[in-house]
Amino acid sequence: MDKYEIRIIQLTLAMIAVFLFALLRATNNYSADLPACIPYDGSFTEPKMMELDDNLYQVYIVAQMWSFEPAEIYLPVGAEVDFYLTSKDVVHGMHLYEKNLNMMAVPGGINKSTVKFDKPGVYELICHEYCGSGHQHMRAEVIVNYPTETN
Ligand code: CUA
Repeated sequence: MDKYEIRIIQLTLAMIAVFLFALLRATNNYSADLPACIPYDGSFTEPKMMELDDNLYQVYIVAQMWSFEPAEIYLPVGAEVDFYLTSKDVVHGMHLYEKNLNMMAVPGGINKSTVKFDKPGVYELICHEYCGSGHQHMRAEVIVNYPTETN
């Protein structure tokens, strides 16, 4: 093997090591939560939202051309949410502003990620994967507020 070939291979391996190190460091230091892929199950094809416990929620989001269901998700401040995401048709993306959440919606697959909402506000959620002529209209909102007193 030519000595330049060996150098190029060494350089490539060193670059891969640097990228892997950067990825692991970002995951640990900036709490970038990598989505988990879980086995596909028919129950995930219906959009729904469940309160498991005090401030503990599960939201099943279904993406399709060109909307997310549910399109409006109401949560109290302090809510910790497991987002489950799948798609009914083509590949979509899901990006939740301000929360470092970026997932793919893949038909036949489910992605899961957990997010905590400590501050009230309207968090916009968009599709970031081009999915056809209505792609730019594909959005939803997570609305976080203090619970209203009922007594
Ligand atoms: Cu769905 Cu772009």
